[in-house]
Amino acid sequence: MTRPRLLIIGTTGQVGMSLAQGLPAALREKLDEVRLCGRNEIDLQHVDTLTEALRSFKPGIVINAAAYTAVDKAEDEPAVAEQVNGHAVGVMAELCREQGALLVHYSTDYVFEGNKNRPYVETDPVKPQNAYGRSKALGERFIAETGCDAVTLRTGWVFARHGDNFYKKMIKLANQRDTLGVVDDQTGAPTPADWLAHVALHWAGLRAGGVDTPLGMFHAASSGQTTWYDYAALTFELAAGTPLLARAPVLNRAKSAAMNFKAHRPAWSVLSTEKLQGATGLTPPDWKTAVTDALLADIHEARG
Ligand SMILES: NC(=O)c1ccc[n+]([C@@H]2O[C@H](COP(=O)([O-])OP(=O)(O)OC[C@H]3O[C@@H](n4cnc5c(N)ncnc54)[C@H](OP(=O)(O)O)[C@@H]3O)[C@@H](O)[C@H]2O)c1
Repeated sequence: MTRPRLLIIGTTGQVGMSLAQGLPAALREKLDEVRLCGRNEIDLQHVDTLTEALRSFKPGIVINAAAYTAVDKAEDEPAVAEQVNGHAVGVMAELCREQGALLVHYSTDYVFEGNKNRPYVETDPVKPQNAYGRSKALGERFIAETGCDAVTLRTGWVFARHGDNFYKKMIKLANQRDTLGVVDDQTGAPTPADWLAHVALHWAGLRAGGVDTPLGMFHAASSGQTTWYDYAALTFELAAGTPLLARAPVLNRAKSAAMNFKAHRPAWSVLSTEKLQGATGLTPPDWKTAVTDALLADIHEARG
């Protein structure tokens, strides 16, 4: 069996960086070559860079962690979001089909309306409420229509010790202000980028080992659930009185409708991971443990 090449796209993002840093030696041994591409090499706004990279490198496995993720900004430039998260993903899927490659892609809880009171399953109908969600739903649809070998991992509330995310933003704001208002009417599960990378690499490992892999849509998110307010409260509980943050701000509960965000966000973002667990045997991390571990590591590093 010839060893496949692995192409990872979007390596400067939270998940992309975790993918680049988390490649296990056992997987590397099963691969002919690994290519890590940031936007400077593959720009999804310019699909010729994508086509050229896929045609010349001829990967057997493509993991796409690149996306237009600025949820509010997408309301002002929906066409750009659609290009990056939709049309370019369609081209990627078509090229993967042409070349017989496996595509592992990430999508979002924001494809759902967010009005359920039980975890969303993969077969629930999509009904995005904002431009970002619509652009990601378009990417999902193009992948399905192309019929390439693909695994799409829907996730939400992603965080990592590197990159930009909610807990980092909270600490930054708390260093500037004494009082903060955070919404308590959106519920989800903060999911670590490292684990999301691990899930994609699990599929890459199976494919590289010639093992028949289950394909399709899978929800990949931490276990448990919380609100942004409680997530912020945990962040301040851990970070206050450390080199990251001198003291906790006064934290007020806020309602989404009063926040003047450009994009409407779903109130309910909890995803069922039963299908993923059944297909892979992987166990999602507990959100609170994962956030705590990341923050304690940040604090440890800041203390030198
Ligand atoms: N962040 C979340 O809370 C969240 C929630 C649900 C789903 N997801 C999904 O999870 C995946 C990974 O998200 P993430 O949190 O790792 O995102 P991220 O940290 O915002 O990183 C996005 C990556 O995409 C790249 N990118 C943006 N526009 C590009 C373009 N035109 N061409 C090529 N690359 C481009 C960025 O490059 P630059 O560094 O050059 O900008 C960066 O490497 C995405 O599919 C996202 O939709 C994320």
